Amino acid sequence: MNKNLRQAIIAGNWKMNKTRPEAKALVEELIPLVKDADCGVVVCVPFTNLETVLNAVKGTNIKVGAQNCHFEKSGAFTGEISADMLVEMGVEYVVLGHSERRQYFGETDETVNKRTVAALAAGLKPIVCVGELLWERETNITEEVIARQIKLDFYGVSADDLKKCVIAYEPVWAIGTGKTATADQAQEVCAFIRATLAKLYGQAVADAVTIQYGGSMNAKNAAELLSKPDVDGGLIGGASLKAPDFSEIVKAAK
Ligand code: PGA
Repeated sequence: MNKNLRQAIIAGNWKMNKTRPEAKALVEELIPLVKDADCGVVVCVPFTNLETVLNAVKGTNIKVGAQNCHFEKSGAFTGEISADMLVEMGVEYVVLGHSERRQYFGETDETVNKRTVAALAAGLKPIVCVGELLWERETNITEEVIARQIKLDFYGVSADDLKKCVIAYEPVWAIGTGKTATADQAQEVCAFIRATLAKLYGQAVADAVTIQYGGSMNAKNAAELLSKPDVDGGLIGGASLKAPDFSEIVKAAK
């Protein structure tokens, strides 16, 4: 369980926030604050902000991600964006299977799997989100839920491709609620995810995968969460919308 085997990554998930001028201002404020980061820094922005943010971060250590992509290469899928379209722009990461997509937009493990496979084939690095609902935790089936998501979401993904993926453990009850999982709860599930990956792919591959915690992570609680052996980074929603807060979390990831 050597943390040096994998990259720590702090990723901001801006969700449906920021117009282009607001996005430009936020990222320009962020650039000097995170320029000496000891970890990977990613901002996952709305599609409409991709070009603005890609231009603004040129020559810096900030990488850019989208918040979804479709599994087909092209065609009659009104409102969707393909992985190739993102790659052509210079986008490197894509968030897939976020619980908000699962809850509000009918995303299932099957579609998350198809999107993951398509994103990898196009050359994107997927940040695949898994996590249990509150009543699943309360009924003690967290591990079953997480194991099922990991097995289904990565179905057919090779070991080499898995190493390009980031997994975000986001307990649904902690997202946007101000209710953070304790560092021990986060560690427990992140370690379980790694053990599940080890069974499927072998320990060496599992040890190489970056596993983030997400859910009300902020400048105050980040250091404790990130000190845990299997918590390799964070996927940050609310706190990524303020450059000073986000940069404090980046600084905690050493
Ligand atoms: P939050 O969101 O930090 O606002 O809880 C995290 C996420 O949904 O990725």
